[in-house]
Amino acid sequence: MDIFQQALSEIVGGRVLDVATQRGGFVRILSENLLSYTEIIGIDSSEEVLEAAQHGLHLDGIRFACMDASRMGFEDESFDTVAISASLHHLTDVVPVLWEMKRVLRKGGNLILAEMHRDGQTEAQLTFVHLHHWVAAVDSALGSVHNRTLARQEIVDHVEALELRHVRFHDSRDSDGDPMDESQIERLNALIDRTLQRAKAVSGYERFKQRGEELRRRLHAVGAQREPGIVIVGEK
Ligand SMILES: C[S@@+](CC[C@H](N)C(=O)[O-])C[C@H]1O[C@@H](n2cnc3c(N)ncnc32)[C@H](O)[C@@H]1O
Repeated sequence: MDIFQQALSEIVGGRVLDVATQRGGFVRILSENLLSYTEIIGIDSSEEVLEAAQHGLHLDGIRFACMDASRMGFEDESFDTVAISASLHHLTDVVPVLWEMKRVLRKGGNLILAEMHRDGQTEAQLTFVHLHHWVAAVDSALGSVHNRTLARQEIVDHVEALELRHVRFHDSRDSDGDPMDESQIERLNALIDRTLQRAKAVSGYERFKQRGEELRRRLHAVGAQREPGIVIVGEK
């Protein structure tokens, strides 16, 4: 059973909020894996990514809104389920966003947090982690917020601070895929090319280029597998 199915399939979603939704990747996962939902609203602070979400996802009961997740324009306790995925390491400050998520969640509703982390990887997963951190460094040099991924314990500590009830942890290790899978290597090679292209605009390009080429050699030598992740579900 896949980790999202395991974590989500018994949750009656009701009115659902997906925070930092980007192109709505997690909205799709929620819509496919929750036991049910009446409505899913995806919010993001970037108009540009939301446009892609609006064009890419045409499902009943789904809509998007541009909003800063640390100051949401929703009433207290106005959602039955509140989710965030792959985004803690994209936030300027994680804590106010998590408390806002708790504020807009009704008592008894579920908070869902999915995040990749930097612990316990195989050599092939480390390729993915190093690549992710290198892309984050290029994004940061270009002015976006993209930090290194968190340690698993840091993620757990953030959730524990919210004092939720019945907290469930679902870990994915994903280390059974083929690290030398050709289509994945091709995709990551293309990611390195695109990132190098973007890095040309920043000072210190040579340093980024050198690291990118080191990572390309590593990719061909040991392959790559997705980073481990964790899905945490807890009740307010
Ligand atoms: C990696 S993407 C999210 C991926 C998406 N949740 C998924 O699972 O497919 C991170 C997103 O966080 C958004 N973001 C960063 N800070 C934010 C904030 N304060 N409020 C809302 N969105 C924010 C960025 O605009 C970006 O689209």
